[in-house]
Amino acid sequence: MNFVKLNNGLEIPQLGFGVCRIPDLSECQQVVEKAIETGYRLIDTAAIYQNESAVGQAMKQSGVAREKLFITSKLWIENFGYQETLRAFDETLAKLQTDYLDLYLLHYPFGDIFGSWRALTELYRQGKIRALGVSNFPNDRLFDLLVNSEVKPAVNQLQTHPFLQRKYERKFLQEKQISLEAWSPFAVGRDNIFSHPVLVTIASHHQKSVAQVILRWHLQHGTIVIPKTVQPKRMQENFSVWDFQLTPEELSAIAQLDQQDQTQTTALAEIDDRIRVQSKFI
Ligand SMILES: NC(=O)c1ccc[n+]([C@@H]2O[C@H](COP(=O)([O-])OP(=O)(O)OC[C@H]3O[C@@H](n4cnc5c(N)ncnc54)[C@H](OP(=O)(O)O)[C@@H]3O)[C@@H](O)[C@H]2O)c1
Repeated sequence: MNFVKLNNGLEIPQLGFGVCRIPDLSECQQVVEKAIETGYRLIDTAAIYQNESAVGQAMKQSGVAREKLFITSKLWIENFGYQETLRAFDETLAKLQTDYLDLYLLHYPFGDIFGSWRALTELYRQGKIRALGVSNFPNDRLFDLLVNSEVKPAVNQLQTHPFLQRKYERKFLQEKQISLEAWSPFAVGRDNIFSHPVLVTIASHHQKSVAQVILRWHLQHGTIVIPKTVQPKRMQENFSVWDFQLTPEELSAIAQLDQQDQTQTTALAEIDDRIRVQSKFI
């Protein structure tokens, strides 16, 4: 496993496991136990996924020591604001059956971001969170937070995949020493990504799957990546990506697949929909 050193010195596994859209708690617990058994140590959940308690049970059942795991959760927007953040964080800890988080993210850039960040900063200083970060923050919102906070965000978790490559965000994040973590690293299989001819050709050249090629592409760009699957065979497949390298020519071919402007519009519409469905906030 490779590790990425965050801007506060904490090391995060570069490849982790996401648990979005696994609402059934017993299924989620089984899946996370299997993922930990496969070797994953970074588990990415969120309050809004409503499965933190299943992740907590799986951590306990796994027999792997807490300090060997790297647990990320996210504060949902309805709980933004100083007091609500402290309360929601305690609830998250209780559900996860732990007394600290490795990484805690503001899920979206809405509402009282600065009140929440003040609460997170206190929790960070008390050692209850080992690194702070954000998710879905465009460059300008992130810049505002950066220049107006004492503890800098270590991570921005953004939807990133070969069709949405984040060139502009990546450049900004590098300049500011903030790590990019890719959500939906496979574009959730949309737009036939798993049968895209360019990716299929590269995969057959390496005798690997398209999923493995996509993960290599992320890893070779230095991105932290958290694919999700409920299938043990795919967990193993997605974890077996350390024994081959994409060539510069292959990386250039994948660079041509970027449709950021077009995809970003779709991504924004989806975020809008998701928040409308999941929240009383709007
Ligand atoms: N911060 C945010 O706002 C945000 C938003 C969305 C997601 N996330 C995080 O990012 C994680 C990953 O994103 P995601 O779940 O949206 O999508 P994803 O990882 O891009 O794709 C998951 C989909 O790909 C399939 N899949 C996985 N491995 C495969 C393989 N080797 N071959 C073929 N298909 C495969 C899965 O199906 P099966 O399960 O049937 O295998 C599932 O349908 C989430 O779980 C969550 O932790 C964060």
